[in-house]
Amino acid sequence: MNVQCPQCRKTYSIPEERIKAYSTSVAFACPSCKGTIEIRAEKAGPQKDAAEATAVPTGNILKKRILRTVNDLPPMPQVADKARRVMADPDSSFADLAKVIETDQAIAARVLKLSNSSYYGVMGTVTSIQHASVVLGMKTLNELLTLACASSLLGSNLDGYELQTGDLWRHSLAVAGCARQLANDKHPELADDAFSAGLIHDCGKLILDKYILERKPQFDAFIQEEGKTFLDAERDILGFDHSQIAADVCEKWTIPKKLTTAIQYHHNPSMLGHNELAFLVHAADGIALMSGIGAGVDGMMYSIDRHTAEFLKLDSMQISTYMLAAAEYVEKTVGNM
Ligand SMILES: [Fe+2]
Ligand SMILES: [Fe+2]
Repeated sequence: MNVQCPQCRKTYSIPEERIKAYSTSVAFACPSCKGTIEIRAEKAGPQKDAAEATAVPTGNILKKRILRTVNDLPPMPQVADKARRVMADPDSSFADLAKVIETDQAIAARVLKLSNSSYYGVMGTVTSIQHASVVLGMKTLNELLTLACASSLLGSNLDGYELQTGDLWRHSLAVAGCARQLANDKHPELADDAFSAGLIHDCGKLILDKYILERKPQFDAFIQEEGKTFLDAERDILGFDHSQIAADVCEKWTIPKKLTTAIQYHHNPSMLGHNELAFLVHAADGIALMSGIGAGVDGMMYSIDRHTAEFLKLDSMQISTYMLAAAEYVEKTVGNM
């Protein structure tokens, strides 16, 4: 369906099914002139006026609302299954449990959040999953995994980002594995931090997906503008992007500052000047996306920042090697589920 901005006359093509998903009219800001475009859905239902329809919160108001409501993130069903099996096996060890946690961004985020809480007396210092597991102990890990596995949101698609079930999980695993390997090869002291930051770098997508879905026609119109990416759309339409909300959530959970900072700047690490962990996560993210692992809406429009490539001395030959290794790591980990 073509819709035209009544102010600047620019036309956008919005998929019919997206419009039909709305029971009332929907209005959004024209990406070009910021005027209001209103689309009346054909389904029956009470019609809202344009002012009411556009009164969707953005920027700090939306961010505060999200931060108030986000408690925990949903884990992947495969991981939840595996965790249940490991917990039920009397021969399984503490290390077996830690290994399961290392394969899921949502569970890893919960483990880091809890181990960095004031209760354990090491607030804001635990950056690796291994350290977190030791801090929490077997009993608490068991409880935490049981709770995580009971999550009602298991296994849904991320329709806002056009990611199928498992895409973001695979992508997060690829980035974690690749960031750890890059660190091992270049800065071994950062290997554990790189893995943790890589695993949860895109957890903001789990948080933002439903807010994007609510504004899908607006996102569709925005990314039709030449050179505009989905990340630009997040910033323009929501007032912040998935890396910023992830950093705010990690801060709320008192996850250490160095992980939070690397996550916040994983798309633009050079804004930090010289931050090695941010370089590692950014490079691993680029490598994972170039391999097509969890690419989603505009993953292929991603390139590795020049300072990062220089700092890590990455040439195209090395990038190809890391791409292969990342894909192998994901296959091996997923295969073990
Ligand atoms: Fe990202
Ligand atoms: Fe990513």
